[in-house]
Amino acid sequence: MANPSLLILAGDGIGPEVMAEVKKIIGWFDAKRGIRFDVSEDLVGGAAYDVHGTPLHDSTMAKAQEVDAVLLGAVGGPKYDKLDFSVKPERGLLRLRKEMDLFSNLRPAQCFDALADFSSLKREVVAGLDIVIVRELTSGVYFGEPRGIFTEGNERVGINTQRYTESEIARVARSAFELARRRNNKVCSMEKANVMESGILWREVVQEVHDKEYPDVELSHMYADAGAMQLCRWPKQFDVIVTDNLFGDLLSDAAAMLTGSLGMLPSASLGAPMANGRPKALYEPVHGSAPDIAGQGKANPIACILSFAMALRYSFDMGAEADRLEKAVEKVLADGVRTADLMGPEGGVPVSTSGMGDAVIAALDASL
Ligand code: IPM
Ligand code: MG
Repeated sequence: MANPSLLILAGDGIGPEVMAEVKKIIGWFDAKRGIRFDVSEDLVGGAAYDVHGTPLHDSTMAKAQEVDAVLLGAVGGPKYDKLDFSVKPERGLLRLRKEMDLFSNLRPAQCFDALADFSSLKREVVAGLDIVIVRELTSGVYFGEPRGIFTEGNERVGINTQRYTESEIARVARSAFELARRRNNKVCSMEKANVMESGILWREVVQEVHDKEYPDVELSHMYADAGAMQLCRWPKQFDVIVTDNLFGDLLSDAAAMLTGSLGMLPSASLGAPMANGRPKALYEPVHGSAPDIAGQGKANPIACILSFAMALRYSFDMGAEADRLEKAVEKVLADGVRTADLMGPEGGVPVSTSGMGDAVIAALDASL
């Protein structure tokens, strides 16, 4: 049987640095566990723009459609701030999400015990936290039409449209309910049904899908602003949160800080099953390109490494190997190994990006 295929798109800023550590981990699974991937690499974001004049070349898009999973680093940077909107680095990522139809974006926020003191919130509020935000990723205000900057009378008007169809809401709701069944069986749906019609429809459809197909799952609804407040007040009340594209963008950054560092958060963007039964999938750290620290060996590669663990779990059905990798990360943190973002008053063993990758490899070796 052919090896499963991976397309690596390291992208911009710290993307290539953190991805270099993931490549080491991929190499470890090959050498030590006999798990072999056919890995290819290509450009995305500003890196693609520099070469092709577009943040995602058509040939790269075509490759992404063919492989079993895409691993992405990060896109964007100040160098590209002045570019026309249509060729900004972020458009490359949005095109991948849209054309692969990756409607369900899983963003777990898990607080490792060793990092509970790093959060800006009190230890008792975050210690042991384990929640997942399921963000709708291919519709809503990110893609709705009409959109643009138009002239009306003697001034300009900027327009974006929040638009959701019933089927778009239903499919992401299903993925949240399915996930909850494998966890603590609780879903909280967030929208702004008090001010937005799309929010009213969202709430109705989530409730319908629940009543017809998932009555065993505990479902609650919350306005997204109250949800943001509750995430800071007592995040452990949640298990799975399901929400739209824009609210999910905001709430997942807030949730990230609960875990101590944005450098810790992985994500999986999943679509419909392909012919081989695997879902269309792209895995990426939530943190972005961090241009201020790029190229200095300071970046924390854990979010990207944990994104690869999610790939093992969700694309390749290798839950035990994903557990092995996550436990290796947990051990390294418990041992006090720290990139700069994780260095607190109590100190620790300071390491560079590659030092962190090496420590994870050592912990993987110790797991055998
Ligand atoms: C994210 C990012 C992206 C988004 C940007 C880079 C387009 O903030 O994945 O959360 O807004 O979706
Ligand atoms: Mg974001």
